[in-house]
Amino acid sequence: MHTGTTLTQFIIEDQRHIAGASGDFTALLNDIVTAIKTISNAVNKGALIGVMGALDTENIQGETQKKLDVITNEIMIQSNEWAGHLAGMASEEMDDVYSIPKQYPLGKYLLVFDPLDGSSNVDINISVGTIFSILRAPVSGQAASMEDFLQPGTKQICAGYALYGSSTMLVLTTGNGVNGFTLDRDIGEFVLTHPGMKIPADTREFAINSSNQRFWEAPVQRYVSECLAGSTGPRGRDFNMRWVASMVAEVHRILTRGGIFMYPRDTKDPAKPGRLRLMYEACPMSFIVEQAGGISSTGYERILEITPENLHQRVPVILGSKNEVEVVLSYHNT
Ligand code: AHG
Ligand code: MN
Ligand code: MN
Repeated sequence: MHTGTTLTQFIIEDQRHIAGASGDFTALLNDIVTAIKTISNAVNKGALIGVMGALDTENIQGETQKKLDVITNEIMIQSNEWAGHLAGMASEEMDDVYSIPKQYPLGKYLLVFDPLDGSSNVDINISVGTIFSILRAPVSGQAASMEDFLQPGTKQICAGYALYGSSTMLVLTTGNGVNGFTLDRDIGEFVLTHPGMKIPADTREFAINSSNQRFWEAPVQRYVSECLAGSTGPRGRDFNMRWVASMVAEVHRILTRGGIFMYPRDTKDPAKPGRLRLMYEACPMSFIVEQAGGISSTGYERILEITPENLHQRVPVILGSKNEVEVVLSYHNT
């Protein structure tokens, strides 16, 4: 029986077209995939293996850590630290750069990740995910410093997310379109099920956390109020709204059937010009969205062109269907 194209086969064939590819990247991706399969199991088994609930620790963002935030972070580290492909790692759940332990060789890539996105949803059995971004280390084989990580999203050589939903999926770009794979648990492999994912240019579905409305800036106020006015307003048509509170799930919905997602700049806390983190949420998702034909912006600038100032920097995010994001951007420009 033919199982279809596995992720391993897809990546090896993809890398064959790249002059000078040594197989290092393919091997790194394999280790990331092993971590994702392990996380998928832990998330899936849930209370059966005692991984639900919160710890009494906080991460650098001041958020209470869930048990699974810490467990998934550990899984990503253990899968990726030993093989000699990385010069360092950084994660939402670690204050500083993670240095590869001395007993392991150093490699030419940097790995940045959000090990469990949407973790407020984990105890209520709603979809969560893992987001990752691969950058090239400025100096191969040398331990990476924090500054080495501060590269704009345009420098990413790969970005992906795993969605632990009703099925587990991996969605990936290496800058040559976006492909989606579904985990076949019977054979333990991700199989290509969604080749060449494209975001429809038009949509009637928006996603925003409306409880922050009083803090939004005028362009977003205008856009959302026009959506809400529906067929009786200037847009002349009704809109639907969704808010999962897992960015991975929202982006996946948008890749599948279109939509616009906003966690915009707001005035709630002047120290936080947005909710989402640039390096391990906004940049990888922006790379994927652009590769699927969508747009990703802060409202004022293309997210992929922002040079990060620190690992945990936050940014406003407005992404999704091209024509709809353009409407919001035009309101920022007036
Ligand atoms: P994380 O669980 O990694 O901290 O990320 C949660 C993020 C994102 O996935 C989601 O879109 C957003 O936070 C939800 O924020 P609200 O709780 O403000 O809706
Ligand atoms: Mn997150
Ligand atoms: Mn997280």
